[in-house]
Amino acid sequence: MELNYKISEENYQILINDKIDNILSKKINSINSDKKILFVYDKKIDLTIVKQIITILRQNGCFLIPLEFQGNKKNKNEKSLFSLLSVMLDNKFTKKSIVISLGGGVLGDVAALAASLYYRGTLYFSIPTTMTSIIDSCVGGKTGINFKNIINSIGNYYHPHTIFIFNQIIKKIPEREYIAGIAEIIKCGLIKKNNILDILKKNQKEILERNYKIVSKLCIETLKTKIFFFKNDVYEKKNRLILNFGHTFAHAIEMATEKLSNKEYFRHGEAVGIGILCELYVSNPKKNYLLENTKKILLKYNLPINIDLGFFKKKRNILIENIYKNIFLDKKKISRYPRYIDVKKIHQPKIKELQNNDLILDTIDKFI
Ligand SMILES: NC(=O)c1ccc[n+]([C@@H]2O[C@H](COP(=O)([O-])OP(=O)(O)OC[C@H]3O[C@@H](n4cnc5c(N)ncnc54)[C@H](O)[C@@H]3O)[C@@H](O)[C@H]2O)c1
Repeated sequence: MELNYKISEENYQILINDKIDNILSKKINSINSDKKILFVYDKKIDLTIVKQIITILRQNGCFLIPLEFQGNKKNKNEKSLFSLLSVMLDNKFTKKSIVISLGGGVLGDVAALAASLYYRGTLYFSIPTTMTSIIDSCVGGKTGINFKNIINSIGNYYHPHTIFIFNQIIKKIPEREYIAGIAEIIKCGLIKKNNILDILKKNQKEILERNYKIVSKLCIETLKTKIFFFKNDVYEKKNRLILNFGHTFAHAIEMATEKLSNKEYFRHGEAVGIGILCELYVSNPKKNYLLENTKKILLKYNLPINIDLGFFKKKRNILIENIYKNIFLDKKKISRYPRYIDVKKIHQPKIKELQNNDLILDTIDKFI
């Protein structure tokens, strides 16, 4: 299966395949490259997958430098970025060399940024390995590192030449990383008319069991939705902002819970699920069927619908204060007010400002 899309007259492709086979080599042979590859892979990925890819590429005559990377929020920093660039420089990579990332959103964002900066841009292929990266972060070109404790404060836009999604990899995603991505899928089902919510409601068992036919259909619907919103607005001036539905609150929750627990408390996708609920509530704080239905879908997929107070019991007030402050760090802000995506009615998202402080506090209070 393949998805083709165009950005500023350039063609890009997403290839979806059951097994990791020679489609990677075929693609490399079809482009103008020097076959020098920095293959950076997440440390936690099943080694048989890593070895299989290395073998395929070497058999194809590529000069390959494999590099292990621990993909977590802590390592999404300038040190990791410069270590990739340094390996490329030391091995005399050219503008026709290739960076291939095999990992989740963290590794993908850092590797894409490195590929974009090296000699102002070298070839980049992405093989996403978590659900969040498969249906969201691999596509759209956003790259980034966290700097000064602010998520993605440094980054640019750089699109992978080709994205490879393999069922063989989906089957091995740890449960938490698989489930976390489903929140972003739900988000796409709420902001545009498509079959996503229907597929999610009718195929819970198949999706949780990772049935290839259903999961690939779900991935394609979600990727198409994402492409619809960004392809004519890569730099996020208008329509692409809609994809941030849930993220004003999600980023604030992610940062606050991490600070107070001293660990990565929520996966990005898990926080997005709660963030969606917060923004649905802000959109309509009265009796809200859409909010209740969304809660049901999140629960169906074992996703959190609030911040577990068990852990933060003694820190509730500090947590509220922290989330509130973080909301004002929103990168979408164009006045003194943070912006969010208002979804009063399903499939009718609107970009709005959070101007009511009491409502912000009331919302945070509701979901912790
Ligand atoms: N660029 C974008 O458009 C975009 C969109 C959404 C999220 N993001 C970014 O993505 C990141 C979150 O991505 P994520 O949720 O994939 O997290 P992640 O990359 O941190 O991966 C989560 C964990 O899973 C492990 N892992 C990854 N793949 C694995 C596999 N197949 N088997 C075993 N373990 C595996 C990683 O080592 C890590 O511990 C955040 O930094 C976020 O800012 C970017």
